[in-house]
Amino acid sequence: MPHTANRRSFIQAASLAGAALSLPAAQYSRVYGANEKLRIASVGTGGKGWSDLNGVAASPEVQVVGLCNIDSSRAHLGQAAEKYPNARQYADWRKLLDASKDIDGVLVSTPDFMHAPISMAAMHLGKHVFCQKPLSHSVHEARQMQLAAQKYDLVTQMCNQIQSHSAYRTAVHWVHSGLLGKVKEVHSWQGGQPSWPRNIPAPQGSDPVPTTVDWELWQGVAPDRHYKTGMYHPFNWRGWQDYGTGQLGDFACHILDPVFKSLKLGSPTRLTVQAPALLPESWTDRSTVRYEFPGTEYTLNRSIPVTWYDAAGVLPPRERLGSVPTDYKLPGAGSVIVGEKGSMVIPHVAMPTLFPVDQSPAGELPVIEGVDHYTQWADACRGVGQTTSHFDYAGPLTEAVLLGTIGIRFPDQELQWNAKKLEITNLPAAQEWISKSYRNGWEPAWV
Ligand SMILES: NC(=O)c1ccc[n+]([C@@H]2O[C@H](COP(=O)([O-])OP(=O)(O)OC[C@H]3O[C@@H](n4cnc5c(N)ncnc54)[C@H](O)[C@@H]3O)[C@@H](O)[C@H]2O)c1
Repeated sequence: MPHTANRRSFIQAASLAGAALSLPAAQYSRVYGANEKLRIASVGTGGKGWSDLNGVAASPEVQVVGLCNIDSSRAHLGQAAEKYPNARQYADWRKLLDASKDIDGVLVSTPDFMHAPISMAAMHLGKHVFCQKPLSHSVHEARQMQLAAQKYDLVTQMCNQIQSHSAYRTAVHWVHSGLLGKVKEVHSWQGGQPSWPRNIPAPQGSDPVPTTVDWELWQGVAPDRHYKTGMYHPFNWRGWQDYGTGQLGDFACHILDPVFKSLKLGSPTRLTVQAPALLPESWTDRSTVRYEFPGTEYTLNRSIPVTWYDAAGVLPPRERLGSVPTDYKLPGAGSVIVGEKGSMVIPHVAMPTLFPVDQSPAGELPVIEGVDHYTQWADACRGVGQTTSHFDYAGPLTEAVLLGTIGIRFPDQELQWNAKKLEITNLPAAQEWISKSYRNGWEPAWV
C-alpha cells in the first residue's frame, strides 16, 4: 500500500516550515505601524490578475490604490473598478508608475512578455513586486529581475502559488526528512491538452480592435502585429513566441517547483530537448527536456537528471519510476521523485503519494499545512515573515524553464550552461535567445 497524505498527522506549519523550505534574501525597506496599510496597485486586473488582486487584497492590512488594464471592459478593468472604487484607474502602467508615490507594491499579472518590463520599472522605483509565473519571457530578464530585487532590497514573490499549498509543502518535507533516501532522478510531465493555439502558422489579415481594448498598449514591448479576434488577447497569447512561453513556460514553474524546493536545485549544467521543428511564430505542442543539475545534499550522485515531458496524454516511462507500481494510475500532470528508498508521486495539484520499499517507516506521515501565498507577500512587505518564491528562488527556476524553451529551437542538441556568465557555452546560435529585443521606445532599464 502506498503512504498517502490522507493518513495525516498535522504538524505545526510554523515550526517546520522554516526547516523544510528554503529561505529568502530577507528584504524589508521599512517598518509599518500597526494600523498602517500596505498600498498596492494591480497591473492586469482581469484573468488570473483578478484572483491575484483579490488574493492580496483579502488581507485587512492591504489597501488597493491603483488598477491598470489595457481593456476597460467588465471582465478586465470593470469588475476591479467596481470592487475597489477608491482606487485610481489606468490603461497605461507607465502612467500608474509615474503617479506611484503612494504605492508600496505592484502586482504584475499581465501576459508573460510584459512581466519583466513592468516589474523592472516598478523595482527601479522601489516598489515591492508580486509577479505572475514564469517570472519573465527571457532568461536575461529573469536574471535582471533577481538582481533588481537584490539591489533595491525589495520583497518579491512569484505567483507559483501551489508552492504554498499543503500538497507541495508536504512533498518538499518528505524529501527533506529522508523518506525517499537520496534522490536518483526526477520525471515531471504535463499531459494536458491546452485550449490555446499551438503549432499553427501566424493568422493572416486583421480584425477590428474592440473599443474597450488599447491594442498598442497590449503589444507593449513586442513587435507590432495586427489584432486578430480570439488569437492573442485574452489568454490565447500563450501559444505565440512573441508573447508567451508555450506549455513548458506555462506549467513548469508550477510542476517543477516542488522538485526545485525539495532538492534545492539551482541552475542546470546542461540540457537537451526533443521536439519537432518549431514553426516561426507559434510554440510547439510537444517537448521533452532532459536537464542535468549539479547534485545537492538530497541527491545520490554528483549530478541529477530531471526530465520534463509535455504533450497531450504524455506520461513518463514507467520503467524509470522506481517503486511506483506499473499499474498505478499516474495523474495527468505532476512529478515522480525517485529515491533510494522509495518513489514519491506529486500530482499537480494533490497530496503526494509515497511508494516505500521494505524499509519504509511505520506509522503516519507528516502533512504540512498550507499557507496563503498572497498574504505571505503582503505580510512580508509589512515586515512580517518572509516570502518563499522570492526572486532569488524564482529567478533560477524561471531561467531553467526558459532554457528549455531555447532548447526547443535546437532539438537534439545539447546546451551547456554557464549560469554565472549567463552563457550557453557551446552553441552561439542558442546564446542569441538568452535575451531579446524590444520595440523602439519600450526598452526596459536594466540593473
Ligand atoms: N499562477 C497561476 O496559476 C496562473 C494561472 C493562470 C495564468 N497565470 C499567469 O497570469 C498571467 C496572466 O495570464 P491570464 O491567463 O490571466 O491572461 P489574460 O490575457 O486572460 O489576462 C491578462 C489580463 O491583463 C490585462 N493586460 C494585458 N496586458 C496588459 C498591460 N500591458 N497592462 C495592463 N493590463 C494588461 C488583460 O487585459 C487581462 O485583463 C500570465 O503570466 C500567466 O502565465 C498564472
